[in-house]
Amino acid sequence: MKKITIIGAGNVGAHAAVSAATLELGHVVLLDQNSDLAKGKAIDITQSMALIQSDSIVTGTGDYQDTADSDIVVITAGVSRKPGMSRDDLLFINASILESIVKQVVEYSPQCILIIVTNPVNTMVQLVYEVSGFPKERVIGMAGILDGGRFKYFIARELNVGASEVVTMVLGDHGELMVPLEDHCQVNGQPIAELLSRECIEDIVRRVQHAGSEIVNLLKTGSAYFAPGRAVIQMVKAILRDEHRTLPCAVYLDGEYGVKGTFVGVPAVLGINGVEKVIEIHLTEKEASAFEQSVEHICARTIELNKKRSLN
Ligand code: LAC
Repeated sequence: MKKITIIGAGNVGAHAAVSAATLELGHVVLLDQNSDLAKGKAIDITQSMALIQSDSIVTGTGDYQDTADSDIVVITAGVSRKPGMSRDDLLFINASILESIVKQVVEYSPQCILIIVTNPVNTMVQLVYEVSGFPKERVIGMAGILDGGRFKYFIARELNVGASEVVTMVLGDHGELMVPLEDHCQVNGQPIAELLSRECIEDIVRRVQHAGSEIVNLLKTGSAYFAPGRAVIQMVKAILRDEHRTLPCAVYLDGEYGVKGTFVGVPAVLGINGVEKVIEIHLTEKEASAFEQSVEHICARTIELNKKRSLN
C-alpha cells in the first residue's frame, strides 16, 4: 500500500486528504503541529469514506515518526494570504516554517517525492530542494494545474461549453506574472482566437492571473482550497499510478527553456520516479517574453530569500 503524507491540516491539506482518499491512492497521513486538528479532520474524512464505499484510511498526527517511509509528502503548511496581500508577502514567514518541516520529513522519508503547495511556491520549492538535498526529479511544486483549471473555467463560462473540452497551459511563476498560453488554448481543437475577441481573451488572461486574489477577497480569511487540494492530488495520482502524464508543474530547469537552476512552471511528465521529463513547447514571441519576465521575477524573489537566509 502506498503512503501519502500531507503536512498541514488546514483547508488545503484537508481537501487534498479528501481527494486522495476518494481516489483510494493509499494510506493518507495528515500531520499538523496542532495534532488534535489533524486527528479530528482525519477521523471525519475517514468516516465520510464509509459513506462512499471507499476503504481509504486517513490518520491524523502531530508526530513525524508516523510519516516514516512515505512515498509522497505533500507540504501545504504555512500562512495563507489575506485580502491586500500578494503571495510574495508570505516569503520569509513561510520559508522559516518550511525549513524546519523539511528537515523532519527527510529524516523519516529519505526516499519520498516532495510536492510543495506553500506559497510563494516557486521559491518555496527551490528552498525545499536545497534543504532536502534530494535530486531534482523528487522535488516538485504545484501551481500550473490549478492555474490551468481556472483558465479552463473562465473559457468554459464565456463559451458555455464543458470545462473538460478546454485545453489550457499556464507557465512561469504562480503569481500575477504567470503566463497563460493563449495561443495554445483550444476548445475541441479550435484555437480560442477563432472563438473569442481579442479583448475578451485579454480579459480572461487577466482574470486567470488574479483568480487566486479574487477568491481571497471574497473569503477574507484565507485563500482558495478546493481547487488547490484537488490539483495537487492529480500530481500524486500521476506519480503513484505511474501515469507518465504531462502536467504543468514547478520543476527544476537545467537548461530547458534557456533557464538553469531555477524552479519554473512548465509541462513535465510525471511517473513513479517523479519528474521524468520536461516538455519544451514552442512559445510565440509574446509568450516567450512574458515567460522571461516571469522567470526574472522568480529569480529576484529567490535572491531576496537567500540574502535573508545568509544573514541569519
Ligand atoms: C491560489 C493559491 C493556492 O492560487 O495560491 O489560490
